[in-house]
Amino acid sequence: MKLFNKRLTLLIVCLLSGFFMANGQDAPADVLTSGFHKGRRDAVREKLPNNSVAVFFSNPVRNRANDVDYIYHQDPDLYYLTGYREPHAVLLVFKNEQSGQNEEKYNEIFFVQEKNARAEMWTGRRLGDQGVKDKLAIQNTFNGSEFEKYQVDFQKFDKVLFFDFQNDVRDNPQDPADLFSLISQFKTKTGYQSNTANLGTEPQKNNLDVRGLNQIMSELRGIKTPEELDLIRKAVFISTVGQVEVMKAMKPGLSETEIQGIHEFVFKKYGSEYEGYPSIVGAGNNGCILHYIENHKPEIQSDEMILMDLGAEYHGYTADVTRTIPIDGKFSPEEKAIYDLVYKAQEEAIQMSKPGVSFGQLGKLAKDIINQGLVDLGIIESADTRHLYYPHGLSHHIGLDVHDKGTYANLEENMVITIEPGIYIPEGSKCDKKWWGIAVRIEDDILITQDGFELLSSFAPRTTEGIEAMMTQPSPLDQFRLPTLQGRKRK
Ligand code: GLY
Ligand code: MN
Ligand code: MN
Repeated sequence: MKLFNKRLTLLIVCLLSGFFMANGQDAPADVLTSGFHKGRRDAVREKLPNNSVAVFFSNPVRNRANDVDYIYHQDPDLYYLTGYREPHAVLLVFKNEQSGQNEEKYNEIFFVQEKNARAEMWTGRRLGDQGVKDKLAIQNTFNGSEFEKYQVDFQKFDKVLFFDFQNDVRDNPQDPADLFSLISQFKTKTGYQSNTANLGTEPQKNNLDVRGLNQIMSELRGIKTPEELDLIRKAVFISTVGQVEVMKAMKPGLSETEIQGIHEFVFKKYGSEYEGYPSIVGAGNNGCILHYIENHKPEIQSDEMILMDLGAEYHGYTADVTRTIPIDGKFSPEEKAIYDLVYKAQEEAIQMSKPGVSFGQLGKLAKDIINQGLVDLGIIESADTRHLYYPHGLSHHIGLDVHDKGTYANLEENMVITIEPGIYIPEGSKCDKKWWGIAVRIEDDILITQDGFELLSSFAPRTTEGIEAMMTQPSPLDQFRLPTLQGRKRK
């Protein structure tokens, strides 16, 4: 009995300490592992041409105003290859093993921003070189100040691959190892300045290559690994829950801004750090603006539809999901006619999706269905009529970017793409007025499987019947009341 008690006590202590440790963590546990990032660096190395080096810089810090910067977002390629989320860094991946001054061997070098207690007190923790070695397991890491004197003979390579610079990086004169300085030092080491004239349409007359890396990164990033799929599934699920909660809460008189807020609150509730792109919430005619991000209409009207295109970014990976719903919970006959046509185009394209089918074939299928449907509804004269009612493409990759890197020939297993047809009929269009102001986009995210597809965003209904049924459900927000905002109303 005593022994049992001791064991029980021990078990409880272990369980509790596990609980507190888990709760004591100050960062999420389900992020990409250092093994994933190492695997991706090896995959880049595999694809590099002989005797070459690939160079990846971090994104610049962008100033918003005075001493406030925009929220920092790492360059997705650098994040993919390292997991590093801080600015002022450069990664070199060598095709072949290199020998250092003391005969040490290496095939990659990473330069990162130095630790600095004062700066960290204001703007957040830094890993520093040792932190990168410990947490990201990139052993050949140095502080950025080492880059200038580090002996890399760029001239000896057949190719030095990098993404060309946009010349939009500010210098911090107090920091000799900021991104501006790292780029300047790289340009000096490679002779970039004197060779930039050759980087345009003319054939290369030197070893600098600003084209090849995009193809390599597109081939890699377009095919998702199991670790990436886990995060994408979460991002997509979170985004569909946002759509469902808004369907329940929708009623005339809400503002576009607060509808956006409901989605984004759901994202945060699940631990999603950001939106994958600026949220698009457009009621009525605003839905005809494809990337409408003002979202500032104060009161949506009962006879309008609202187009909501939002994606949660979860640990770096973003969803891209659009639902279009009637404010009063019931599609009018015209709204339903347009909606059902977009749905038909989407559904047929989804059903056709499998490895070997081309992006072009999918896009043509959807466009043909929409054009014929617009003819049948009397909105255009013939299926060949040039029009702007469906002005965008059908599909793109999603991942670390909403319009993610990937190839656009044939679908392949483990690609994740959107299927997103739409019809937009702005006020004043050359058709019967009854169609004016109707804008419908339905956007879903699918995983291409070995012999077909998996619909990742099925949690949010997308038929008119499914949406209408969901909109009859109660919402916890029905009880959410806030004090009135006082102040003078301006006419
Ligand atoms: N949310 C942007 C797009 O659908 O491509
Ligand atoms: Mn999209
Ligand atoms: Mn979208």
